[in-house]
Amino acid sequence: MKILGISAHYHDSAAALVVDGVPVCAVQEERLSRHKNDSGFPIGAIEWCLDHARIDPADLDAVIFYERSMLKFERILTSALRAFPSSWRSFPNAIKNSLGEKVWVRGIISSYLGVPRNKIFFTGHHASHAAAAFLTSPTRRAAILTADGVGEWATLTVGHGERANGTTDITLLREVRYPHSLGLLYSTFTAYLGFAVNEDEYKVMGLAAYGRPTMTEQVGKLIRRTPDGAFTLVPEYFEYQTTAARSYSSRFIDLFGPPRNAYEPIDLATTEGQRYADCAASLQRVLEDTLVDIARTLHRETGLPDLCFGGGVALNGVANARILTESGFERVFVPPAPGDAGCALGAALYADRIYFHNPDRDVPDHPFWGPPVNAAELAQAAREDGQGVEELDEGPLIERVADELAAGRVVGWMDGACEFGPRALGHRSILAAPHSIEMRDRLNRDIKYREEFRPFAPVVPIEAATRYFDVPPGGVRLSRFMSGVFPVRREWRSQLAAITHVDGSARLQALERGMAPRLYALLEAYGRRTGIPVLLNTSFNVAGEPIVNRALEGYSTFRRWGIDALVAGPTLVMKHVASPVTSLKEAVA
Ligand SMILES: [Fe+2]
Repeated sequence: MKILGISAHYHDSAAALVVDGVPVCAVQEERLSRHKNDSGFPIGAIEWCLDHARIDPADLDAVIFYERSMLKFERILTSALRAFPSSWRSFPNAIKNSLGEKVWVRGIISSYLGVPRNKIFFTGHHASHAAAAFLTSPTRRAAILTADGVGEWATLTVGHGERANGTTDITLLREVRYPHSLGLLYSTFTAYLGFAVNEDEYKVMGLAAYGRPTMTEQVGKLIRRTPDGAFTLVPEYFEYQTTAARSYSSRFIDLFGPPRNAYEPIDLATTEGQRYADCAASLQRVLEDTLVDIARTLHRETGLPDLCFGGGVALNGVANARILTESGFERVFVPPAPGDAGCALGAALYADRIYFHNPDRDVPDHPFWGPPVNAAELAQAAREDGQGVEELDEGPLIERVADELAAGRVVGWMDGACEFGPRALGHRSILAAPHSIEMRDRLNRDIKYREEFRPFAPVVPIEAATRYFDVPPGGVRLSRFMSGVFPVRREWRSQLAAITHVDGSARLQALERGMAPRLYALLEAYGRRTGIPVLLNTSFNVAGEPIVNRALEGYSTFRRWGIDALVAGPTLVMKHVASPVTSLKEAVA
């Protein structure tokens, strides 16, 4: 059975194709359109999926949209009417957005693809999140938690899933409904702290490490816990339910002080800068405490050792680590794409198993479902551009790249299929030596153009993870797709300064050889040179751009910014003018 899953019209659109129960490919629209977080109808992603699998739209057995658009419309309409007359300004906007695209999804899909309307189906938004988390994980029985901003009505669900005797069951037991939402609580603070909502939530998490949770009492006024273990938000502090213009109210400002101007940099040396950091730390603490309590209740209720966690909130690696260590679950599975893009795959798998009762199948445990890189394209572009191109066999290439990294050079690394999800997990990465603060600052300054408080992440062979990082039982699994933040062991912090956050933590990727064998070999080769098989691994993009997809996009980024070497397949391109080399000996010593 050939099933196409689609997520669109809210944030980060994507398409995924499942054939005979197994994913064949999946890609976010932004990787193809080159518009970061592209939320449009993912026609490019759909076309690529069908082309890649050599499937004609007429051959599709079903197309699944990741949420019930009529229900979402009902939520927007009902919320607007409830808030009337204060909502009158946002009402036309809500109607326009919903009527224009969201409600008439069946017609849009049918006309774009020429697929008959009776082959087009819908799943619940959180059912898609739940399926993306549970059906892509290797567990057969697990509790399920989903949390995001909002889908149709639900913002958080708890339940359980089971794969047994070839059949699949996903049961969502309870839900928290809009406007009560952990994701929207976090997004409200994201806006208040002057960052872009639905995009920069991870900056709030990074900033939190610089602050102290001195305002948890104030944050506690915004969110009330209910006897059943859930929560409600106190509406007087929020405005997102009444206007699209601002998410926090004047009472919110009374409580926390004036909001940050997005155009002013955060200076942590000032009282004001520290207030923002303390605010982020307080929010982060309250979010973690709430999630831990919900997960603990779910663990008690289900008695299951495994938890599958999906939805955009599952991108919060600090909270995930606390859920793992404090809720009672032995293992926590977060998929590589827990957000709405991942719902394209979740919806397709949900339809396959639940709607069509197809037999249970194991889903390969990796994130590499996107377009493959074309090394010949890189070689041709670099030659035409007059750059030195070398074609090397696998072994010599790995050794050569390890030499360059050990000499302090920054390497753009493209390998195989693009990652599905927001994180570079070894196929579209910028790699560098992880040892010195200078390297961190250089990357922030010359390539990523990011705030200084943003940490870089390390990648380490799975077998060596606990030597360098204080990873609890189950933490290595959580680190498979960089979903947990754990302490760097004290004795290694000075030698891993570029990837150690200000609070001593790191969002590591613990790499299994089978998942990305070339990167694994590179880590080994680098370890032979420096004694430390750890590399700094950051996504291959510059600020404001999506992660590179094609070799040409990698080449363009390499040419424009301070990357010294570029690799795709067997092709190595060295920039003619090398940047200053950090003394590795000094850094490691
Ligand atoms: Fe969502």
